[in-house]
Amino acid sequence: MELAAESVSVRFGGLVANDDISLSIASGEVLGLIGPNGAGKTTLVNILSGFQRPHSGAIRLAGTDMTHRKPGAFARAGIVRSFQAVRLFRRLTVSENIEVGLVGRGLSRGEARRQAFAMLSEFDLGHRAAQPASALSYGEERRVGLVRALALEPRFLLLDEPAAGLAAMEAEELKRAILSIRDNRGCGVLVIEHNMALVMSLCDRIHVLGGGKTIAAGRPEEIRRNPAVRTAYLGSTAA
Ligand SMILES: Nc1ncnc2c1ncn2[C@@H]1O[C@H](COP(=O)(O)OP(=O)(O)O)[C@@H](O)[C@H]1O
Ligand SMILES: [Mg+2]
Repeated sequence: MELAAESVSVRFGGLVANDDISLSIASGEVLGLIGPNGAGKTTLVNILSGFQRPHSGAIRLAGTDMTHRKPGAFARAGIVRSFQAVRLFRRLTVSENIEVGLVGRGLSRGEARRQAFAMLSEFDLGHRAAQPASALSYGEERRVGLVRALALEPRFLLLDEPAAGLAAMEAEELKRAILSIRDNRGCGVLVIEHNMALVMSLCDRIHVLGGGKTIAAGRPEEIRRNPAVRTAYLGSTAA
């Protein structure tokens, strides 16, 4: 199965935030979306998840045209996104933060509790289940955010800078979690990430944006060697 953007363009007044961008994410792969600040990455994730409409172009899920559907229809179709800053309900327990989503999907409270514990355990967070979310480290909070997204049973998971602000060890744990989502659940995962070492070791393919346009797309090794990518990054102060 494939989630695809086809010749998508988005304008904000005179600014072209996405200029004729085409990309696709397949089930069971991690696609990196990189580029300097302001390149149009978050805008493209907004489009892919139905939070924003393109001015031209189309979004297709397994061939079905989603372009004019509402965000709720994207979520029901299995396209789940995270936002740049994850916030849990800090007064609820870690488990309750997950259970909320499961009960929302129609599970009984008991079943939600069992499933929440199983999912937290899968991501080495079982020992945190009964603690308040406020007790978590920053890295753990990010992983719980990931589990919460998984409770929605995504087929495609779109993550906007999930590792921002994480220490190297925490970023490594997040990477393992994302790879296990790819391998054990068969999700297609799109990750926006600035840490090049992390991107190169995590992603199966990488799509590079600059100034709203596609600069390059390919395997990590091709992207690493691509002169246009190097220029885009050297020309920006905040990559
Ligand atoms: N809602 C908006 N209104 C006006 N301009 C916006 C809006 N959202 C994004 N932009 C602009 O579009 C460009 C791309 O932004 P964004 O997609 O957030 O980039 P990135 O995530 O790659 O940093 C930037 O110049 C940004 O200022
Ligand atoms: Mg962004």
